[in-house]
Amino acid sequence: MTQTAFDPTKRFAWQSLRSYADQELPSLKQLSADAARAGRYEFRHRGLHLDLSKCRIDAELLGLGLHQLDQLQLSQQMAALQAGAELNMSEGRAALHTLVRAERAPHERLREAFSDVLEQRERMLTIAQALFEHAGSRVGLVDADRVINIGIGGSDLGPRLVADALAGEPGPELRFVANVDGHALDQALSGPRAARTLFVVSSKTFGTRETLLNALSARQWLRDNGVAEEQLSRHFVGCSANPEAAAKFGVGAVVAFNESVGGRYSLWSGVGLAAAAGIGRDAFQQLLAGAAAMDEHCLQAPLSRCLPVMAALAHCMDRVLWSYPTRAVVAYDERLGLLPDFLQQLEMESNGKAVDHAGQSLDHPAAAVIWGGTGTAGQHAYFQSLHQGLDVVPVDFLGCIRPGHQRPEHHRVLLANMLAQSAALLQGSKIDPDTDPALAAARLCPGGRPSTTLLLERLDPASLGALLAFYEHKVFVQSRIFGNNPFDQWGVELGKKIAGGVEQALSSHDHPLDFDPSTNALIRRIRALSN
Ligand code: F6P
Repeated sequence: MTQTAFDPTKRFAWQSLRSYADQELPSLKQLSADAARAGRYEFRHRGLHLDLSKCRIDAELLGLGLHQLDQLQLSQQMAALQAGAELNMSEGRAALHTLVRAERAPHERLREAFSDVLEQRERMLTIAQALFEHAGSRVGLVDADRVINIGIGGSDLGPRLVADALAGEPGPELRFVANVDGHALDQALSGPRAARTLFVVSSKTFGTRETLLNALSARQWLRDNGVAEEQLSRHFVGCSANPEAAAKFGVGAVVAFNESVGGRYSLWSGVGLAAAAGIGRDAFQQLLAGAAAMDEHCLQAPLSRCLPVMAALAHCMDRVLWSYPTRAVVAYDERLGLLPDFLQQLEMESNGKAVDHAGQSLDHPAAAVIWGGTGTAGQHAYFQSLHQGLDVVPVDFLGCIRPGHQRPEHHRVLLANMLAQSAALLQGSKIDPDTDPALAAARLCPGGRPSTTLLLERLDPASLGALLAFYEHKVFVQSRIFGNNPFDQWGVELGKKIAGGVEQALSSHDHPLDFDPSTNALIRRIRALSN
């Protein structure tokens, strides 16, 4: 285990918080009756406004939590993360996503790695700008009008979210294919223009079965649509921490990045190429700068004013003190519609663990199940359950003060609904005492349900970068509170291994069926009906 100035296996001690919460902490409804409360739990950094006043917290409880974070030497841990300490202990690596967007090497030990980052960033941005201008031939690629990203997980969700939020004219049309389902690829390939289509094959390992199969089928599609064999490579860019494998596949350009950048933390690296092609070099640099500003905030701000720290404390209390098993993220901005999917991977692949760095079982469940969607649509789908279901689900509400469109009435209705939903969850309903008891019970919204509100002044590259970096740091701080390693993902390996065997059993009917009886029976059923 690498030597650091702190003990990464030291536990966040919940006892003092639990006894205060059980014996003295007022209910959320009682707390929210205090008029001075709002200002006390608002935290701002640049264009981001975080409001925790609808969480069941008070000064005493936060004080106890901050004391525990001091005991963990959290400030030193956050600094160590950005200084390239080997915090991903099960893989013997650092976590270098903040380095990838840094303006300067944050530590002597990262000087060489940072010089690689600068070179890789410049190469990525040069290719991206050429694609943004439909001038791929400037960098040995085709002059593409359509760029299709082939990647999955962190090699899809981040760039897809950024593209969805920010891309538009005059950049190329962007499409994303992640799933191995043939429908996903067929949808991405629909329409003509093979000659002016470029594929970004994005894969940290360049070994992901789904991604490589999609890339091979895309290449065959090019052949089938008249692209000469010797021209094929000009239709591909490989973005990977395994550049040799990318080059071997046959690409016109490779954008490499450090293997210590985690997949779900990699949109800032070459994995972001498709998004950068859609928004252009300058906008992508603003995205990086916005994230870097949040990194600096995490190094400079006292813990009690640090947005990711305060959100992590409040959200871990939801998970551990009140045992809420899930968390809903509802973006009241269509441009952030993919944020819940992005955060599902970021939070659940980072903190969906049960042991600490030393392999000891955690004392409490770690990551909540993250789900969500957009508002106001969710109000017509699952908010019924949020208001009256027995399970309490903390909600993250996100909205932008300046809409970025010319429909002020639409925006007023949108924001009014967002604020109303968090207010209704908090206050609950008052039923006329003369109402029939059964009807009163059916109509009652109990209230006392927590939420967090994040307001962006506007959605632009810098604020989106800051928002996503905020969540990365929140997830890191949560991992320090839960006690797990947020940077490995051993849990995904078993399914991949079994899938290899099942794939063989489905491709050859004489392949022995040595799975569990249920799986064997299902394979037999598929075999029987497959043509
Ligand atoms: O789900 C496992 C995982 O390794 C993710 O962490 C990663 O983002 C995704 O698969 C894709 O991996 P790669 O970028 O190596 O293709």
